[in-house]
Amino acid sequence: MGTPIDRADGTPPLVAVVLATGNRDKVREFKPMLEGISPQLRLYSLDDLALSPEIEETEPTLEGNARLKAEALYSLAEPMFEWLIVLADDTGLEVNALGGAPGVRSARFAPAPDGSSPSYEDNVSHLLKSIDGAPVRTARFRTVIALKGRMPSRDGGCFMVDETVEGRIDGTITGERFGSGGFGYDPVFRPDGAGKTFAEMSLEEKNAISHRALAVRSATARIRDLMAHAGIPSTETGNHP
Ligand code: IMP
Repeated sequence: MGTPIDRADGTPPLVAVVLATGNRDKVREFKPMLEGISPQLRLYSLDDLALSPEIEETEPTLEGNARLKAEALYSLAEPMFEWLIVLADDTGLEVNALGGAPGVRSARFAPAPDGSSPSYEDNVSHLLKSIDGAPVRTARFRTVIALKGRMPSRDGGCFMVDETVEGRIDGTITGERFGSGGFGYDPVFRPDGAGKTFAEMSLEEKNAISHRALAVRSATARIRDLMAHAGIPSTETGNHP
């Protein structure tokens, strides 16, 4: 729950960072980077706050959907904390030969009977079929993270946060599947210069270069800036990715 802040006693305010995801893997991935930002930061997942909103991703862009989720979660979490930043992400695979598709529809690319979701396997098969024979097989993964929040200002007031950051990685769609690691389109996405697909990499290798890791790094840097703007101490950057 939010901590009442008395800046008169010289204590720096606490800031809640709320991850708008119910996905435990994402929480695990985000946690170490975000918790290292400042001793004044407290990280919460939706589970921690007992929130499980159904938010339909109705926007035509990754930015739009990330913002939609951040705004919906902000309105639920805002009464719980005095100072907070909600983070919501959306990711898509953008294939040039398909004019940027599947993009926002990456999770639901393959046709599926009404109401059901296609499997990763179905989506990969559909992708390979869709670009069969295409002379250009370039693509990119893009993750957009929306930040929506309310922060204390040094003059005793507050300022609002409403922005997005992104991480992207360019690569090629292979002609067949390679590797058994990762998830989603990993077996057919080979990052430029890597010589192997995401599915052939260890989690550490993938996390060193992935779209999501780059986006989380940008979000971490922005939160650090916002904390500095609010006059809240951060830890040294040297030890953190
Ligand atoms: P989300 O926005 O993170 O839920 O991602 C939407 C969809 O994009 C997922 O269902 C996957 O199909 C695909 N996707 C997202 N990130 C990755 C990744 O790192 N590798 C492969 N596929 C991914």
